Amino acid sequence: MKKVALLSLITLSVFIAIAFIMNPQTVNASKRSSSVNQGTALPDSIQMMVKRACMDCHATDGNFMAKGKINFSDWDKYDAAKQSKKAAAMCKVLTKGSMPPKKWCTNNPNDVPTQAEKDMVCKWASSLKK
Ligand code: HEC
Repeated sequence: MKKVALLSLITLSVFIAIAFIMNPQTVNASKRSSSVNQGTALPDSIQMMVKRACMDCHATDGNFMAKGKINFSDWDKYDAAKQSKKAAAMCKVLTKGSMPPKKWCTNNPNDVPTQAEKDMVCKWASSLKK
């Protein structure tokens, strides 16, 4: 009788130990996927314009100041909140006409974003707003 009790006690503690070992991992894993709201890739139409008109500067191999503000090479690593903020900033600078910089536009007249592209960015930016 005593042996059976001891055996079940050992079995029980093994179960508890396993639960302890397993638990932190499952908790962490679910936390990781839910607490940071993962961003999404740039839509193709936006990506085309960005590659043409922004990534001379806003890319990992671009301008130091520019990539500090937005680095389109790292866009997919931004979480959803950051993407939403950056998209709104893109709409703002495009609408104001402060980006791409005047000098760049003079040197790359065929690559300047069109009005339709600016509208598209702003529409997309407002769709990302929470
Ligand atoms: C010739 C290089 C160049 C190109 C091309 C360029 N940028 Fe910039 N951009 C910069 C630099 C440099 C800064 C940082 C300096 C500053 O804050 O004024 C900047 C800053 C910004 C900022 C942050 C502005 C702020 O108020 O904080 C945004 C948003 C931005 N760029 C968007 C864009 C978009 C969108 C495009 C493409 C349509 C683009 N840029 C094309 C050089 C460039």
